[in-house]
Amino acid sequence: MRYNSSKRRRQLSTLAEIRKLARQRLMPPCRVCPACDGRVCAGEMPGMGGVGSGAGFINNFQALAAVRLNLRTIHTVASPDIALSLFGKGLAMPILGAPIGGVKMNVNDAMSEEEFCLAMLEGARQAGTLGMGGDGPFPLLYNATLAAVRQAGGIPVTKPRGQEAIVAHFRRAEEAGAAAIGIDIDAAGLLNMTRNGQPVEPKTVDQLRELAAATPLPLILKGVMTVEDAQAACRAGAAAIVVSNHGGRALDHTPGTAEVLPAIAAAVKGRITILADGGVRSGTDVLKFLALGADAVLVGRPLAIAAVGGGAEGVRLMLETLAEELRAAMVLTGCNSLSEVGPQVLWRRE
Ligand SMILES: Cc1cc2nc3c(=O)[nH]c(=O)nc-3n(C[C@H](O)[C@H](O)[C@H](O)COP(=O)(O)O)c2cc1C
Repeated sequence: MRYNSSKRRRQLSTLAEIRKLARQRLMPPCRVCPACDGRVCAGEMPGMGGVGSGAGFINNFQALAAVRLNLRTIHTVASPDIALSLFGKGLAMPILGAPIGGVKMNVNDAMSEEEFCLAMLEGARQAGTLGMGGDGPFPLLYNATLAAVRQAGGIPVTKPRGQEAIVAHFRRAEEAGAAAIGIDIDAAGLLNMTRNGQPVEPKTVDQLRELAAATPLPLILKGVMTVEDAQAACRAGAAAIVVSNHGGRALDHTPGTAEVLPAIAAAVKGRITILADGGVRSGTDVLKFLALGADAVLVGRPLAIAAVGGGAEGVRLMLETLAEELRAAMVLTGCNSLSEVGPQVLWRRE
C-alpha cells in the first residue's frame, strides 16, 4: 500500500476528537498534553506521571527525541512490509499495546477496569497486533485483564509476586488463552503492592528459570534496563525482554530507554526477542527504537488516552496511524522490511 495522505488526514482529525473527549474524561490526572512528555504530570502517581521527580518518564521522551534519522529518497522502496512473527503469531505491525493497570487509582475511574482492558486488547486485535494487560494491588485488575484476554486475546503481565502466586497467575492466563505471559520485574519495589498486602520481590536467575519452566507460554520479562539483566533473562530461558523503565514509574532518575537499548541489543540481539517502550508517540519513534535494536515496541499512555476517548475503535485507530507513520518513515529512510531497519537509519555527527 502506498502512503495515503488523505486517509491519514481523516484519521488525524478523528484522533483529535478522541483526544478531546479523553481530555474531558481524564482531567485532572491526565491533561492529554499536545506532547505527552511527562513534564506537566511529573511526580503524579497515582496518576499518569513518572515517580518522584518524573525524570524517568521525561528521559524516555527526550532520549527518543534526541535520535536523528538519515533522510534517504533515492531508492526503490515504496511499499515497506511491516509484518512480523512474534510468539508464534503473525502480527500486522511491530507495535503492541503496553499493560496499563489501575484506571480507578490512576485516572479517576474514567471508565471501568473491565471496559478499559477490553478496549485496549480488542483495539489491538482489530489492528492485527497484540495488547498486554496489567496486574495490581487489587484482584479486580488481573481479573479484568484475564476477562479481556478471554475475549480478545493478548498478553497478561503479572507482578513479581511470590513464586506460587505467580504460577497461579500463569495457570489462569493459560486457561484464558493468552498468547504469552509477562512479569514486570521492575515492579519488585512497588509500594502500592506491599502497602496493600500484596508482596512483590526481586527474582534470582534460578527463580526466573523455575518460572519459565512452569508454563508452556513464552515468558516476557518487562523492565530490563541493563546488559547484566538482559543476559540474566537469556540464562533464565525467557522468550523476550521489554527494555522499559515502566514509563518512569518504578525508580526515579532512570535513563531514557533509548539510551540503554543499543548496549542491550549489542549483547543479546538474536538470542532473545527485544521489545522496548517509553515515549513512543509516532511511527518515527517506532522506527528509532527498531533502528536502536528492538524487534518491536510497546505503546502505553497514548493508547490509554485513545481507549478512554474512543474505546477499542480509538485504540485500533491510534495503532493503525502509528503503523502508517512507520511505513512512511521507512519509505523516507529506504527500508523495505523490518529486517532492513538498522543503524544505517540513524544519523550521527561525523
Ligand atoms: C497509569 C499506568 C499504569 C501502568 N500499569 C502497568 C502495569 O500494570 N503493568 C506494567 O507492566 N506496566 C504498567 N505501566 C507501564 C507501561 O506498561 C509502559 O511500560 C509505559 O507506560 C510505557 O511508556 P509510555 O506510556 O511513555 O508509552 C503503567 C503505566 C501507566 C502510565
